[in-house]
Amino acid sequence: MALVPDFQTSPGMRDILPPESARWRRFVHVFAGVAEGAGDGQVISPLLEDLGVFQRIGDATDVVTKEMYDFVDKGGRHVALRPELTASVCRAFVQHRPLTPWKVWYAGSQFRYEKPQRGRYRQFDQVGIEVLGADDPYLDVEIIALGWEFYRALGLQQVNLLLNSLGEPADRARYVQALQEHFEAHLDTLSDESKVTLQKNPLRVLDSKRPQDAPLVAAAPKIAEFYSEAAAAHFAAVQAGLTELGIPFTVDSKLVRGLDYYRHTTFEYQGGTLESAQNALGGGGRYDGLVESLGGPPTAGIGFALGLDRTLIACDDEGVFPAPANDVDVFVVDTTGGLQALQITAQLRDVGIGADRAFENRSMKSQMKAADRSGATYAVIIGSNELDAGEAVVRPLRAERALNPDGSPSDGTQSTIPRSDLLDHLKKALS
Ligand code: HAM
Repeated sequence: MALVPDFQTSPGMRDILPPESARWRRFVHVFAGVAEGAGDGQVISPLLEDLGVFQRIGDATDVVTKEMYDFVDKGGRHVALRPELTASVCRAFVQHRPLTPWKVWYAGSQFRYEKPQRGRYRQFDQVGIEVLGADDPYLDVEIIALGWEFYRALGLQQVNLLLNSLGEPADRARYVQALQEHFEAHLDTLSDESKVTLQKNPLRVLDSKRPQDAPLVAAAPKIAEFYSEAAAAHFAAVQAGLTELGIPFTVDSKLVRGLDYYRHTTFEYQGGTLESAQNALGGGGRYDGLVESLGGPPTAGIGFALGLDRTLIACDDEGVFPAPANDVDVFVVDTTGGLQALQITAQLRDVGIGADRAFENRSMKSQMKAADRSGATYAVIIGSNELDAGEAVVRPLRAERALNPDGSPSDGTQSTIPRSDLLDHLKKALS
């Protein structure tokens, strides 16, 4: 009978095991390369903040009202696990007052109490960029382009960039008013769910995927009709900049995004292989008032966050960015008790050659099996004969990779080497 473990991961939370974990690390590494290549430095924020920090995101979003992991700590503080990092970065900006523009990137876990499904988890990871203190449409272009460049670095082909502008706060307010009037005039045809959404945030009704709402959403007023001159000019400059860089995009006037702090530019990268409820690989936008709402000076802000979990699903679907092999270069097989393997692996690692070994003095057969599984290019074998003669056997395990010390391809035959030459021999063979 199969053993049922006492404990398993909580719903929506996962263990990331090797070799997948190495892929996660590489994902962040590739992102860091893209972000740091644009002058962004890493910020590492706490997993937990005062609940109030996240409440400033806006009280009309599910992320704040329904999905927060919040609790009172032993000191009586009402805290929450972060559901996203934009608010934390703005809180840090207010607290530390760095020089502007402050360009930062981040990577880490976020927590939202959502209904778990493929691509939607309660603990999920994001990488992201935020830039505070610069109000320039070409910065919007730079940010959007960095996300685009990152997807290209992963090898993803099926990514669509959707772009919108929510205008200035006054434009947005007039638009929300117009939407409210439009939907209220047709309440009888609106779905019950959207009626509830309408009370909280008329913009989010545009997000409705229910067929019943589709005609009303299609007939709704468009945000572009409400732009001030400045907002229209900003949005036009963003589009011109993206076109200049050759980045394809679609203007989607229904793109409102799930968080309340956006104004002006908003954008989303959608994956071509995922179901529509989970196809947002990442998104972001301008949030010029957020720093102020956290007690700081009026400060422009823009950024994005990309979902790691979901982007890797898209990579699997497209067969790109596989988990890297965690192969060592050499596996030491020692049937004389293990001390030789201890010495040789230490010497090899010392000169930067990846080395592994077996433990518990297993049989030759079992150690050779482990050597094969390790992915090593060579096995170094020490039995009692080799130990007595001061020698070691070097056996190529991966004929396609193995070379003779002179650089010629190995024919797969093993060689016996004096112990004093072993390190040099392997360094040459692996170079
Ligand atoms: P968001 O759209 O809430 O934006 O999340 C960004 C991305 O995180 C999503 O597109 C998705 O890929 C991923 N994501 C969100 N929720 C989940 C989940 N439950 N499971 C798996 N992946 C998920 C933000 O978080 C903003 N802070 C982005 C931003 C930065 N805006 C300006 N700066």
